[in-house]
Amino acid sequence: MKVFITRKIPEEGIKILEDAGLEVSVFSDDRIPSKGEIINGIKNVDALISLLTDPIDCDVIESGKKLKVIGNYAVGYNNIDLKCAKRRGIKVVNTPGVLTETTADLTFALILAASRRIVEGYDIIRKGEFKGWAPLFLLGKEVYGSTLGILGAGRIGQAVGRRAKGFGMRILYSSRSKKPQFEKETNAKFVSLDELLRNSDILTIHVPLTNETYHLISDEEIKMMKDGVILVNTARGEIIDEKALVKFLHRGKFFAVALDVFENEPNVNPELLKFNNVLITPHIGSATEKTRKKMAEIVCADVLRVLKGEEPLHRVV
Ligand code: NAP
Ligand code: GLV
Ligand code: GLV
Repeated sequence: MKVFITRKIPEEGIKILEDAGLEVSVFSDDRIPSKGEIINGIKNVDALISLLTDPIDCDVIESGKKLKVIGNYAVGYNNIDLKCAKRRGIKVVNTPGVLTETTADLTFALILAASRRIVEGYDIIRKGEFKGWAPLFLLGKEVYGSTLGILGAGRIGQAVGRRAKGFGMRILYSSRSKKPQFEKETNAKFVSLDELLRNSDILTIHVPLTNETYHLISDEEIKMMKDGVILVNTARGEIIDEKALVKFLHRGKFFAVALDVFENEPNVNPELLKFNNVLITPHIGSATEKTRKKMAEIVCADVLRVLKGEEPLHRVV
């Protein structure tokens, strides 16, 4: 049986497939393949391992005549047409859990960097513009004692909440359902989206990208936020309406905005780069050696399970 992987992933995963006697081919270039190149790659394969940068729409899925399983090397699977996969009896698996703490760490790095203006400070040093410690120089916002709003208290949202507890923050969260265990652990309070927007000093987004969450944060929602709010997004760029974001940045609504994800990745909206209080990282939430290895292992092990006729551990559809 054959597996096509759209980009090089850690060897640990590929070994699992090869040790089981599967023929593995990896897209040869170190870049995002085009749709045509993916279609070409999956013509005669039983399994596809895709990345969040690969739009796996119905054209692609239907071109895989022998395809039985798609393993997404990510926890987010908004890049895959699940309905189409289901209709064709193709299973989809992903990589939940193993990247939770890693992504929560990056989120907290952004919360701290945005609050304490770390990147602005570094730029001042590099430009040789630091004139010495001064009482009113580069003043940030307090993290300790401030209110963190978590939008989407799933695995990553809750892991961010646990970190926030250690930092002495008050925690509010909004999600589809209440999380009693999380509340017990962190004293977090379940609130409506409106309440979350109105009361958070720092708002961090952890919902998946779905039809309901596309542009969930737009003009009305930003208007409701506190003046001087810090907005952090490590979920998916399309959850924030970037046009609205830019508009309110111009109006001075935000103390800072920190994004690990943005609309139209990898192309950054040039408007965003004009603001010193916008901090952007290049989608590195899960980017540690250990986590990327684990992601490779769990996605390949699950693809193998499906090919052996077993039930996968992390089935999406
Ligand atoms: P998860 O455990 O499924 O958590 C998502 C949470 O969002 C769920 O708890 C769900 O609430 C809530 N939710 C879903 N739709 C909602 C809606 N319309 N309104 C309010 N809440 C809603 O997923 P996760 O593992 O934490 O990952 C979250 C997302 O992070 C992924 O989908 C991915 O896009 C992103 N991510 C980014 C990076 C990065 O590199 N920056 C890395 C990993 C993941 P209920 O539980 O109440 O149903
Ligand atoms: C990364 O963004 C993921 O969804 O795993
Ligand atoms: C700052 O460096 C202080 O000593 O207060």
